[in-house]
Amino acid sequence: MSLRLKFNLILIATTVVGLLAAGLVSWQILQRDARATVQRSAEMLLGGALSVRKYTVDEIRPLLRQLDSAEFLPQTVPAYAASQVIHNLQRNYPEYSYKEAALNPTNPANRAADWEADIIEWFRSHPDDKELSGERATATGSALYISRPIRITNPKCLTCHGDPAAAPAAMKARYGTTNGFGWKLNEVIGAQVVSVPQTVQEAAAWRQFLVFMGSLLAIFLVVGLVLNILLYRFVTRPVALIAERAEAISTGSGSVEELDIGGNDEIGSLARSFNRMQRSLNNAVKLLNESMQ
Ligand code: HEC
Repeated sequence: MSLRLKFNLILIATTVVGLLAAGLVSWQILQRDARATVQRSAEMLLGGALSVRKYTVDEIRPLLRQLDSAEFLPQTVPAYAASQVIHNLQRNYPEYSYKEAALNPTNPANRAADWEADIIEWFRSHPDDKELSGERATATGSALYISRPIRITNPKCLTCHGDPAAAPAAMKARYGTTNGFGWKLNEVIGAQVVSVPQTVQEAAAWRQFLVFMGSLLAIFLVVGLVLNILLYRFVTRPVALIAERAEAISTGSGSVEELDIGGNDEIGSLARSFNRMQRSLNNAVKLLNESMQ
C-alpha cells in the first residue's frame, strides 16, 4: 500500500469520525435551541393573553360598568378580550392559537376539543399540577402546547357561571341559559391552552445544520487537498527520487548524478547523507579499480 493511500485512508477515517461527532453534537444543540425558541414563543403568547385578561379586569371593566348598558357587553369579560385579541393576531399567524377551553362553555366557540378535554380531565385528576405541556400533531405539522388549569377560586365568577337564575338577564339574552352554568367553586372547569407550531423552527434548525455540516465538509476537503499536495511535494516525490537513484546505483550505473534536494528537514538530510554515501562509494570503487590496474 503506497504512503499516499495509507495517509489518505487515515485522513478519510478521521474525517468521517470527526464529521459524525460534530454532526451529532451540533444536531442536538440546534434541536435543543429550536425547542427552547418554540417554548419561549408559547410562553410569550400565554403571557400576552394573561396581560389582556388583566387589562380588561383592571381597566376596561370598571369603565364599561359606568355605561350602565341594558345590553350585555362581552368586552367586560376577560376570556372574551383575550380570545378576540388572539383572534386578530391569528390573521397573520394562523398556526398560533390561544383558547380558554371549557367542558361546558358559555360561548360554544370555547368548547374543548377532544385533546383539550383530555388535558382538562388530567388537571381535574392532578389538582397539584399547575402546567402541562407537550407536542401534538396538527394538519400543518407538529405543534407545542402549554396549558394551565382554570379553577374557579373566586365566588364572584358564579354570578354568571353558577345558577342561571342568578345570572344577569342581559347576559342570558345573549348567551342563553343552557351553556356555561353549573360551575362549582374550586372546580377545574377548563384550561388555557396555547399552541405554537414547531415546523418553522425545525426547518430553520435543519437549514443551519446543513450549512454547518456543508462548511465543515468543505474545510475538511480543502485541508485534505493541501495535505496531499504537501505530502507529495515534501515526502513522496523526494523519497521516490532517492529510491530511484538507489535503484540505479545498485544496478551499477556509476555515472548517476547527485540528488538535488534542498531543505533542512529529515528528507533533506537523508538526501545529503545519500549523496555523501554515493561519493564515498564512488571513491571506494575508484580506489579499487586503481589498485587492480
Ligand atoms: C358578568 C358575567 C361573568 C362573570 C362575573 C364571569 N364570567 Fe366568565 N364568561 C362570561 C361570558 C359572557 C363568557 C363568554 C364570553 C365570550 O363570548 O367569549 C365567559 C367566558 C368565560 C370563559 C371561557 C369559556 C366559556 O365559558 O366560554 C372562562 C374560562 C370564564 N369565563 C371564566 C370565568 C372566571 C374564572 C370568572 C371569575 C373570575 C368569570 N368567568 C366571571 C361571563 C362572566
